[in-house]
Amino acid sequence: MKSEKLIKAVRNAAIERFPMPLGGIHGLAHWERVHENGIILAKHSGADLLVVRLFAYLHDCCRESDGSDFEHGLRAARYAEILKKEFLSISEEQFDLLYHACEFHERGRVTDDPTVGTCWDADRLDLGRVFIKPAPKLLSTDRAKSKSVIHWATQRSRGHKAKLKA
Ligand SMILES: [Fe+2]
Repeated sequence: MKSEKLIKAVRNAAIERFPMPLGGIHGLAHWERVHENGIILAKHSGADLLVVRLFAYLHDCCRESDGSDFEHGLRAARYAEILKKEFLSISEEQFDLLYHACEFHERGRVTDDPTVGTCWDADRLDLGRVFIKPAPKLLSTDRAKSKSVIHWATQRSRGHKAKLKA
């Protein structure tokens, strides 16, 4: 399956799987912003873009509450495993990165791995929606740590118009 088709199919599967209202703080608008953040960060980080884009739609789709919801990341990773058996045709290496990024995204870690780091940063840069300013020490990639990116992502996560300098 081609990348765009694959991403669309995973997005649809995540929407179908999500047990809470899609308009909530961990719902579709958040996933779309994580997706956009990921694309922007991947241009600089050297991440595997397909993994980053799949992570955006999968990482929170098995949440059962908007609280800390321990192990929702592991549930997302296991859901990715189910999708792999159905249609998620990516390489083993890509799948391992996706699984790891989903499983541990809730643990507040940073990483040297460019793909996993880009996934986690794309998610954390959207913390402004719940009135948390992303802390550079909890970001993994250089681009995400920059003041201009944090400012842009925070404004946008709160629904304000913001322009990101190249
Ligand atoms: Fe998230």
